[in-house]
Formats: sequence, C-alpha cells, structure tokens
Amino acid sequence: MEIKKRLSSILESPSNHIDEKLLKICQLLDQEYSYFNWTGFYFRNGDKEELILGPYVGAATDHTVIPFGKGICGQVAVSNETFVVPDVWEQDNYLACSLDTKAEIVVPIIKEGKNIGQIDIDSHTHDPFTAEDREMLEWLCNEIAKKM
Ligand code: SME
Repeated sequence: MEIKKRLSSILESPSNHIDEKLLKICQLLDQEYSYFNWTGFYFRNGDKEELILGPYVGAATDHTVIPFGKGICGQVAVSNETFVVPDVWEQDNYLACSLDTKAEIVVPIIKEGKNIGQIDIDSHTHDPFTAEDREMLEWLCNEIAKKM
C-alpha cells in the first residue's frame, strides 16, 4: 500500500491516543525508509519558547529540551519552514545527537497558523532526502496538525 494511505490509516484509527499514533508513524517510517535512522517529534512546550521531545524511534538523545533558535530543530521553531540539511557538519548551528548522523530534515507542524511542533529525521547517509520525501513529510505534518 502507498505510504500516505498507511500513514492516514494510523492517524484515522479511532482508538489510539495521539502519542501512540505518532509513535506508530515513527515506526512505520523507520521500517520503510532505510536511510531514516532517527525519526521523532518535538512539540512546543505551552507558551514557552522551547521544544520538548515527543515520540521517537532511534537512539536515545540528550536533546530532550531544545530552546527556540538552537540547532536545526530550534531554527525551524522560529522559521516555520522545512529545513533540509544534506551535510550536518557544514552547519554552525547544529545539535549533534549521534556522530553517525550525516544529514537531517525537519518539517514544522503548523496548526491554525501556529508552529506547534515538528518531525525530525536524521540519516546516516549523506544528502539522502528526495523532493518526494519532503513532499510526503509536509503532507504528513499537515495531516497531523488536523488531529492536534
Ligand atoms: N540535530 C537536532 C537535534 C535533535 S536530534 O537530531 C534528535 C538539531 O540540530 O536541532
């Protein structure tokens, strides 16, 4: 089945709490994309200008709280735009989670014009993310926003 249909069926399932759905989404993406090596969500902490780690699949990270502006995630919290990083070691404002990470994509979740969180994907492959991946993730974040 097409990936979007599988993601939709997780989001539309009546029983699960949103955090369980988000974890299932991480698990599905992790299974389906060999170059997605850490897949997780961060959400804004109320009115505070910081992100809190949500459901994820991958190695445990020290970055459970990220101030706005810090790292790739913190920059997306203020830019409201997708950030694709083909080579993380070329970034000055970057928070390393794993020395194996080579690339990252962060897509904001915008609900009613407000940036409420994001999906963050790290890859051990250099420059792996395609235009289709970006389009799929932006679609997904838009679908998630409808459920929040
Ligand atoms: N690399 C991110 C931090 C989060 S971890 O990748 C899980 C950043 O620079 O914001």
